[in-house]
Amino acid sequence: MLSALHRKVSKSLENPALAWNLVRSQWLRALGPREYISVDGNRAESERGAYVACVQRAARDYRAFRRFKRHPSYQAILEHVRRGMGAEYIEVIRRQTPELLARIEQFKENDRVGDPITQVYPETGAISPTTLRYVKVASDLQCLFGADFGGKVAEIGPGYGGQALIDDRIFAISRVDLFDLPPVLALISRYLESFALRGTYRCLTLNQCAGDEDYDLVVSNLAFSELPSAVQRLYIRKVLSRSKRGYMVMDSGFPHSEFTEDHLSVDELRALLPPFEILEERPASAPHNYLLVWGHRPGALSV
Ligand SMILES: C[S@@+](CC[C@H](N)C(=O)[O-])C[C@H]1O[C@@H](n2cnc3c(N)ncnc32)[C@H](O)[C@@H]1O
Repeated sequence: MLSALHRKVSKSLENPALAWNLVRSQWLRALGPREYISVDGNRAESERGAYVACVQRAARDYRAFRRFKRHPSYQAILEHVRRGMGAEYIEVIRRQTPELLARIEQFKENDRVGDPITQVYPETGAISPTTLRYVKVASDLQCLFGADFGGKVAEIGPGYGGQALIDDRIFAISRVDLFDLPPVLALISRYLESFALRGTYRCLTLNQCAGDEDYDLVVSNLAFSELPSAVQRLYIRKVLSRSKRGYMVMDSGFPHSEFTEDHLSVDELRALLPPFEILEERPASAPHNYLLVWGHRPGALSV
């Protein structure tokens, strides 16, 4: 985890405010307030005490909510996409789905809440590189599954709900079930209620899910892959194995992955998930990250 943070800091040197916040996040992690939800052993890589405490504050206090995307403890987990990656996302969106790039002004609504750091690009004007990542994921979804993949979606580990907001604007999603920790779900509700959605959402923990729903698509970016294997198995049984299609950005599963401690290997996943394909993540969010997809049109992503 520490080396992951070092990499984030060195990559973000092009943005001194973000690099400084990532350094500050280490002090806050050691000295600031901490909260945990899961017992040790059930915690995701992201369930660090400082992140949960920061999310809790943002969910209940409007002053913290107004600026939560700039908090160092939040940026240590999310909102740390650097400027150069944003430019690469624009290029992929332009190649794969130019019609989404043409709608970029609409997607900037995701930057209206939480005061994110924005960057100026010739093709888009000022926009948060994280918002560009969510539009790039939506572009992948459209290429892989078509624009009309059905209305029932699940997302595991949705952060503040940014991907869900962008997807709502692009696809005809009647309901998205969002799975996360209770304080994160409170922040997601507060966030999504800032906007008027076309579809609907439900906030759930794993324990509140009976495992009796079928889904048209499940999405989990840098979230399912960061869970301990016992929790991963439960998500597979209750959610992933019940979905016709899947799209996950993965940072565990191979011996050279960023996270190698207690996560299911790709071989173990092959025995538990619907038949899937491993694709290159372009651009890669970290050196050995990859996409795990099923129910897709093979060869659909741009090269
Ligand atoms: C690195 S963040 C990724 C967020 C988002 N998917 C994105 O791409 O911006 C990891 C996410 O996993 C969530 N998480 C942690 N423990 C979890 C659990 N037990 N079940 C579901 N999500 C969890 C975190 O709260 C966070 O939303």
